[in-house]
Amino acid sequence: MVARVRTVAFQGIEAVPVDVQVMIAPGKVNMHIVGLADKAVAESRERVQAALHASGLSMPSKKVTVNLAPADLPKEGSHYDLPIALGLMAALGAIPGDMLAGYVVLGELSLDGTIAAVAGALPAAIGANAEGKGLICPFACGPEAAWAGKDFDILAPRSLIAIANHFRGTQVLSRPEAGIHASARDLPDLADIKGQETAKRALEVAAAGGHNLLMIGPPGSGKSMLAQPLPSILPPLAPKELLEVSMIASVAGELGEGKLTDRRPFRAPHHSASMAAMVGGGLRVRPGEASLAHHGVLFLDEFPEFSPQALDALRQPLETGDCMIARANHRVTYPARIQLVAAMNPCRCGMAGEPGYRCLRGERCRTDYQARISGPLLDRIDLRIEVPAVSASDLIRPDRAEKSADVALRVARARTIQRERFERLGATSTTTNAHCSPSVIEEVAMPDASGLSLLKDASEKLGFSARAYHRVLKVARTLADLEASETVGRIHLAEAISYRMSSERMAQAA
Ligand SMILES: Nc1ncnc2c1ncn2[C@@H]1O[C@H](COP(=O)(O)OP(=O)(O)OP(=O)(O)O)[C@@H](O)[C@H]1O
Ligand SMILES: [Mg+2]
Repeated sequence: MVARVRTVAFQGIEAVPVDVQVMIAPGKVNMHIVGLADKAVAESRERVQAALHASGLSMPSKKVTVNLAPADLPKEGSHYDLPIALGLMAALGAIPGDMLAGYVVLGELSLDGTIAAVAGALPAAIGANAEGKGLICPFACGPEAAWAGKDFDILAPRSLIAIANHFRGTQVLSRPEAGIHASARDLPDLADIKGQETAKRALEVAAAGGHNLLMIGPPGSGKSMLAQPLPSILPPLAPKELLEVSMIASVAGELGEGKLTDRRPFRAPHHSASMAAMVGGGLRVRPGEASLAHHGVLFLDEFPEFSPQALDALRQPLETGDCMIARANHRVTYPARIQLVAAMNPCRCGMAGEPGYRCLRGERCRTDYQARISGPLLDRIDLRIEVPAVSASDLIRPDRAEKSADVALRVARARTIQRERFERLGATSTTTNAHCSPSVIEEVAMPDASGLSLLKDASEKLGFSARAYHRVLKVARTLADLEASETVGRIHLAEAISYRMSSERMAQAA
C-alpha cells in the first residue's frame, strides 16, 4: 500500500507542490529515500526513525521506500521530516490517510518526536490556501502561517503524538493566531542629529520618492548616524508589500517567533559581504541582503570597501527589482525592489576636499579610492550629497531639531500623491517615483518651459546618460510632490540636478 502526503519545495519564494509517497513492502528491512534529495533530506531517515520510536511506534520489519515526486525537482532542507513521518504513520495505519489528503505538510523532527521550526511556512501556507488545502506546520510557525487567510485550516502541533491524537480525536489542536510584532518605539530619531540640514533634506527626499542616496564626507561627520533614522521616516508597509517582504524573510528563516511586522526592512551588511550574501545564492540557494531589504533600505556603509563583485552584482536588481540566480540545473528569482543608501569617505585618508588639508598621496588618494565604485553603479544613484563635519556651534546648540514623526508625515503625504497618480495611470505595480518606468516619468514629470531649458543645458554640459536624464526627472517629480505641486518647475529641476553634481564638485575641490 502507498500512502501519500503533500508537501512543498521552494523555488525562490514560490512553493512548488511535492508528493511524498511511502510504500511498505516485504523485503530486506531497510528505509530508502529517493527523488533528488539533498543531504539534509537523506538524513531525515535517521530523524524519522528515532522520532517514531520516541512516539511509541516501531518501524515495520519490512522494506520502506519513500519517493519524493516529481523526481527531477531538487529537494533541499529539513522540512521533509514531518511529511515522511506522517506518510509512514498513515502506511502503518496509525493515522487515517484520507484525513491527511486535505493538508500540505512541512516540519523538522527532533529525535524525541517534537517538531522543530522550519523556514518557508508562510509561502507554503499561501500556496496551500490557494489550492483549497489546509496546512500542518510546526507550532512555532503557526503565527506566521495564520496570515495566509482567516478561514484557512492550520494545525500547528508541538509533537508527532499531538498530531496523531488530533487525528484520533482525543486531543484537538486549536488554530494558531496570526502574530504581529508591536512596532518598535525605540528607533533612532532624526531629532538626535544636530545640524546637517542639507543631509536631512536629502534623506527626506530619498524617503519620499524611494531614491538611492550616497553620502560622502570626512570621518566622524555623522554619515552612519544619518542613515539610522531612515526607517523612522518611511511609511509602513502596505498589506501586499508586507506579505511579500515576510515571504522572503520566511524562506530565509528570518521571521523572529513567526511574527510579521509592517516596518520596512533596513539591512546593513558588513563590507566583507560576498556576492552570494549580497544577491543570494550559495550551496543551498537563499535570498541575499538585497532581497531581504525588499521594499526597504539596503544600507552599505564604507561603500568602496565592499568587493567590486558584490557591488556590481547589485546593478541588475537596482534596475529590474529582482535578483535572478542561474544555476546549471535550475534558476531562482527573488524579488529585490530596494532603496540603496551608501556612505563613504572621499578618499583613503578621509579628508580630501577639507579646507586646508592635502592628502599625503596627493590626487591619487582620492581617485584610487573612488575608482573602486564602478561608473554604472554610481549612475544608478540619484542623490549624492556631501556631509561636512558638523560645526562645534551646531553641536553645542541646545535646541532640538525636527522630530522623525513630523518628517514622516510629509513623506507619507508625498507617497500618497505618487500612489494615487500611478493608480490613475493604471501603473499599479509602481508606487514610488524612483521605480517608475521612463515613459511614465516623461509623461508625469514634464517640466515647464524654463525648467525644460535648464534641463537641456545641464544635460548637454554635464553629459547626462539617458538613465541620468530620467533619474533627474524622477527626483524633480518627488521634490514637486513634497510641495504638493502639480507642475515640475525650474526650482525642482535645479535642486535635482545639484544632487547629481555633488560628486563632481567634490572632485574639483580636491
Ligand atoms: N550631527 C551630529 N549630531 C550629533 N552627534 C554627531 C553628529 N555627527 C556626528 N556625531 C557624533 O559622531 C559620532 C560618529 O559619527 P558617525 O559614525 O556617523 O561618522 P561617520 O561619518 O560614519 O564616520 P566614518 O567615516 O568614520 O564612518 C556619532 O556617534 C556621534 O556621536
Ligand atoms: Mg561611518
